[in-house]
Amino acid sequence: MDKFVIRGGNRLKGQVAIDGAKNAALPIMAAALLAEGPCDISRVPALADITAMSDLLGELGASVEHADGRMRIEVRDESNSHAQYERVRKMRASICVLGPLLAKRGQARVSMPGGCAIGARPVDLHLRGLRALGAQIELDNGDIVAKARRLRGTSLFLGGPFGSTVLGTANVMSAATLAEGRTVIESAACEPEIEDLADFLNAMGAKIRGAGTPRVTIDGVEKLAGCPHEVIPDRIEAGTFMVAAALTNGEVTLTNARLDHLMAVVDKLREIGVNVEPSAGGAVVSSARRLEPTDVTTQPYPGFPTDLQAQLMTLLCLADGNSVITEKIFPDRFMHVAELLRMGADIRKEGPTAIVTGVRRLIGAPVMASDLRASAALVLAGLVARGTTEILRVYHIDRGYERIEQRLNALGADIQRVSE
Ligand code: UD1
Repeated sequence: MDKFVIRGGNRLKGQVAIDGAKNAALPIMAAALLAEGPCDISRVPALADITAMSDLLGELGASVEHADGRMRIEVRDESNSHAQYERVRKMRASICVLGPLLAKRGQARVSMPGGCAIGARPVDLHLRGLRALGAQIELDNGDIVAKARRLRGTSLFLGGPFGSTVLGTANVMSAATLAEGRTVIESAACEPEIEDLADFLNAMGAKIRGAGTPRVTIDGVEKLAGCPHEVIPDRIEAGTFMVAAALTNGEVTLTNARLDHLMAVVDKLREIGVNVEPSAGGAVVSSARRLEPTDVTTQPYPGFPTDLQAQLMTLLCLADGNSVITEKIFPDRFMHVAELLRMGADIRKEGPTAIVTGVRRLIGAPVMASDLRASAALVLAGLVARGTTEILRVYHIDRGYERIEQRLNALGADIQRVSE
């Protein structure tokens, strides 16, 4: 297992290219199971989660080649439709294959995902949506077993207690492309990753309208063909580099970033005193002073993303006063708080809310990465902390950021990857 050793205090300056979005690429890869013929997907990042999805697709009969950001997926054998526990346990997003398998092959067996470090993560809405399309679904030995001769279009509501579901929308929308008749999904997730998936499916021959809004209409077709597609830039990675620039009083130019996917984040950063200027294909982010505190609540898109909550918390640890962060998507997603406290932060947690009182400085310490975005927050903290920060279990961060230490070092950071 690797760890990061970070010497803090360097100002970040320079240019960084943002990768394709992991969370767009994963459901798109799964949707390639629907196609007759090869799909050529570009800007696919080289990440542990992408490798995990490639391996799963391989088990499900697809050949997957991935080099230099380009991926070719072609289904060659449809005899195995079982996504096993070993795979799903390692990556929850494996659930994305459920809708495509069911629609294309008439059956799927996918291990039921368990909880994870950010809390309980049920899939009841995925199942409710697929049942509404006529699937028979039961639980057998920890597996979701789904069957349907041909799915039937219908109107369905996909909202849950915490709002819409991103991967649930991906599953139901993908499945409905091959259903008989029209499906209308109400309370669909509006995230840009859903719009990107719909663009891919439409290029395959699907008839989807309204993706990116709460009402998505899908007219079923008989079959879908392989096609090329380019994955959108990763808005969470872009937001993480923005915070890195702001924290270190640096100046970083992001290329291949979509500011229109980051409106809530840019708005919040500007409110606290960070400069974000649009530039060709991206943005220049800089900061030259102590930042103002703020209140922020995570929400479904276009609200402030839960996947940037931890990183923003690190930034607010050094703002001039009290900030309030409320987590409305995953109320238990605060594993980073205890680690930031070890670095001298002043944070009080009250249920799904954290009250962050700005301190003059963070102090380097050994800390433990618990999940992907929490680890990113700790790397950010290490960049500004006095002394040395050691981050254990960085495999979490490799799931979602490609060569993060090399890219931060190219901007002036001092991060070493060390094998433990
Ligand atoms: C996706 C993202 C993840 C992000 C999250 C919210 C991927 C691979 N992952 O996860 O990075 O943090 O969106 O933006 O794209 N819920 C239910 N029942 C369900 C499904 C979800 O109650 O059947 C609840 C969840 O517990 C959570 C909320 O709905 O409180 C939103 O979850 P969801 O949008 O489904 O997250 P994911 O799609 O799993």
